[in-house]
Amino acid sequence: MQRKRIAVVPGDGIGKEVIPQALMVIQASGAPVDFTEFDWSADRYLKDGTTIPADGFAMLARDFDAIFVGALGDPRVKTNIHAKEILLGMRFQMDLYANVRPVKLFDASLCPLKNVRVEDLNFTVIRENTEGVYMDIGGVFKQGTPDEVATQEDINTRKGVERIIRFAFDYARANRRKKVMMTDKSNVMTYAGGLWQRVFQEVAAEYSEITPQHMFVDALCLQMIREPQSLEVIVTNNMFGDILTDLAAALQGGLGMAASGNIHPSRTSMFEPVHGSAPPLAGKNVANPMGSILSAAMMLAHLELRGEAERIESAVIDAVREGRRTQDIGGSMGTREVAEWIAKRVTA
Ligand SMILES: NC(=O)c1ccc[n+]([C@@H]2O[C@H](COP(=O)([O-])OP(=O)(O)OC[C@H]3O[C@@H](n4cnc5c(N)ncnc54)[C@H](O)[C@@H]3O)[C@@H](O)[C@H]2O)c1
Repeated sequence: MQRKRIAVVPGDGIGKEVIPQALMVIQASGAPVDFTEFDWSADRYLKDGTTIPADGFAMLARDFDAIFVGALGDPRVKTNIHAKEILLGMRFQMDLYANVRPVKLFDASLCPLKNVRVEDLNFTVIRENTEGVYMDIGGVFKQGTPDEVATQEDINTRKGVERIIRFAFDYARANRRKKVMMTDKSNVMTYAGGLWQRVFQEVAAEYSEITPQHMFVDALCLQMIREPQSLEVIVTNNMFGDILTDLAAALQGGLGMAASGNIHPSRTSMFEPVHGSAPPLAGKNVANPMGSILSAAMMLAHLELRGEAERIESAVIDAVREGRRTQDIGGSMGTREVAEWIAKRVTA
């Protein structure tokens, strides 16, 4: 197999600590990949004003098979402009329309709910990543007066809704899942919800082996806590996906455990831990590297390096079950020590 080229953007804060550890684990797996690191970050922005170079997105799409990002955000950059341009830029300008968030429980002790077994929590949220209220369309009128009006448009295109729903069914088929649930608030957001409902029914008809389901998003929050074992694949819009995935992260042990992919099936895609740059933890060797290591495994699976991906995920499961943990999940080991243990297990 041809070696895969991976662009690496560690970013800010704990991103700079956890990403090198994940790269070490990838290397330990023997995956045929080459890394090229980019310093796009708050440091770079404060030094010369660069967020991402002019041809940055075109270069990533042309020269790389995947992108691996840590986290972006730094209190010294009050506007957060660099994070916005780099992260949202990748999602929007590279059209990475599917945000894929696997939610798995590796050990019952990580779940804040009582009586939840490992096999009870294993679902995936597919979040639309390029539309909705995140398109920054809206305005204010009579600002600063008692008559102020603010609008924030929720953009839903036929093309955008159809491709994310199709992605969810294709994902279910590829992963041998039997149910896809679309969640919305179509009882009150009738226009956007109506489009999602019609498209969902049309696309579902093409996948006869998969059962289509629907829930309103408020009811799904309840269901996620009460009966997480009933869920397999959830597809939803950008904002509901944003909220649901944080709730889901809490069920699997917190932000330190959560991995994600920002995917366009036929373009260079991006993988990143769900957490941010956690400035108070930075430089202390306490951040949990597992979210990054699991994101690396997702990236390898996406690049069809499935054997390596499975060995990495198994090693993370072993680490959790054998108590090789950072503080956020009840352990006392450091970032490096956890990652080194996992790398050794991957090599063995
Ligand atoms: N994708 C991204 O790059 C991304 C995502 C969220 C926030 N941010 C940015 O990160 C900065 C901090 O944001 P925040 O505090 O809201 O979110 P955060 O994810 O950085 O931290 C939230 C909480 O989770 C904990 N945490 C996060 N990751 C952890 C890890 N790996 N191990 C152990 N504990 C972990 C933190 O200590 C904190 O208590 C902000 O600048 C924000 O804009 C970036």
